Amino acid sequence: MTPSDVKATLAFSDGSPSMELPIYKGSIGPDVIDIRKLYAQTGKFTYDPGFLSTASCNSTITYIDGDKGELLYRGYPIEQLAVNCDYLETCYLLLYGELPNADQKASFNDRVMHHTMVNEQMQFFLRGFRRDAHPMAVMTGLVGALSAFYHDSTDINNPEHREIAAIRLIAKMPTLVAMAYKYTIGQPYIYPKNDLSYAGNFMRMMFATPCEDYKPNDVLVRAMDRIFTLHADHEQNASTSTVRLCGSSGTNPFAAIAAGVACLWGPAHGGANEACLNMLADIQNQGGVAKIGEFIKQVKDKNSGVKLMGFGHRVYKNYDPRAKLMRETCHEVLGELGLQNDPMFKLAMELEKIALEDEYFVARKLYPNVDFYSGIVQRAIGIPVPLFTAIFALARTVGWIAQLNEMIGDPEYKIGRPRQLFVGATSRDVKPIGQR
Ligand code: ACO
Repeated sequence: MTPSDVKATLAFSDGSPSMELPIYKGSIGPDVIDIRKLYAQTGKFTYDPGFLSTASCNSTITYIDGDKGELLYRGYPIEQLAVNCDYLETCYLLLYGELPNADQKASFNDRVMHHTMVNEQMQFFLRGFRRDAHPMAVMTGLVGALSAFYHDSTDINNPEHREIAAIRLIAKMPTLVAMAYKYTIGQPYIYPKNDLSYAGNFMRMMFATPCEDYKPNDVLVRAMDRIFTLHADHEQNASTSTVRLCGSSGTNPFAAIAAGVACLWGPAHGGANEACLNMLADIQNQGGVAKIGEFIKQVKDKNSGVKLMGFGHRVYKNYDPRAKLMRETCHEVLGELGLQNDPMFKLAMELEKIALEDEYFVARKLYPNVDFYSGIVQRAIGIPVPLFTAIFALARTVGWIAQLNEMIGDPEYKIGRPRQLFVGATSRDVKPIGQR
């Protein structure tokens, strides 16, 4: 953090002494006012529920300019990474700070692809779940359970443990997601095949059976790989902040990532892709494009509780760059599968067009986010809707672990412990039960 020449002065109208606050500059993006000594010097806290103006850490991993609609991983624009690099190169970049050269890429791929199997006991653990359990409920349990199987990678303060936990998590998430899926549909688990690509192996574990192998289709594998890349990290979002907060107690990495999975599940976050596809299906069932006007009216009515899922973002006040790439992938996948006239895709494009012209959305700077098109792509590939968020979790695992490792490696890191403005009852005496 570079100190700025400018200082902020906090003054009080009741005559309390004012306080000078240091300001730090990042390499890009807004400066931050350092309030760490505020409580010690003034006896006051800041108040910022939802972290609208609060930087919870400093980071070198991902940068978003929400007004411009820009997303950089380690300085590289997502548009360039999505086109020129595969997901495992992106993982390497997020974990180690630089893109790999050919040798580094080969050895990283080899390392990840030789940790794809999970302990055989995991299948018995899985068997304890109901077959109709939501995949995110299952994933929260399975990821948390990994800590019980890999004792040699649970000391978060040991850099070697952090490194091997990162590789294991990236390698095993596709296996776990595919196992969760196979369990739901009552098919045998398919073991990983390490000579396939990361995305190709995942799709084979999803769609092959012992009676019939799955031949990965290049266009669909590339689409899946792009979904992974676009979801790999997104700076201090709710699930990443959850992972950091959980990990700040020194808990093991698998438990911290399981907390991230739980947070991602919510419909305001990763669950939006599932919610978005369900929304499109509802509109489709009620009459499709002809019903868009009526639906938009409901969305604008604050009492209806209806939101246009896949639209809006806390940080992007412009088109989410990932949504543009996902729309492109949508065209490719539907073209490959001969589904150019897919009514759901047509409905989504029409909905987007109408919303982008509507004063309600324009005034609030609400644009499509990554989830608006990712569901249509996944559905076309054959991924069942309830699994969408689990695939998001698979892809985001690298971001979570890179951010967690960055935090633990920072000599200044402290356990996360927010404060509060207490507005409840002040001290009072307990009365005997008969007098209450
Ligand atoms: N549909 C209708 N209105 C919306 C939407 C939406 N999707 N999103 C925001 N608004 C409205 C709000 O009602 C509010 O209106 P008001 O000023 O009249 O009260 C205004 O736009 C600002 O919205 P906030 O809720 O304050 O924005 P916030 O930053 O807190 O929320 C969020 C962002 C949660 C993503 C929100 O836009 C949303 O719920 N979107 C739908 C769910 C979704 O797609 N989530 C995926 C996010 S991306 C991801 O996790 C990968």
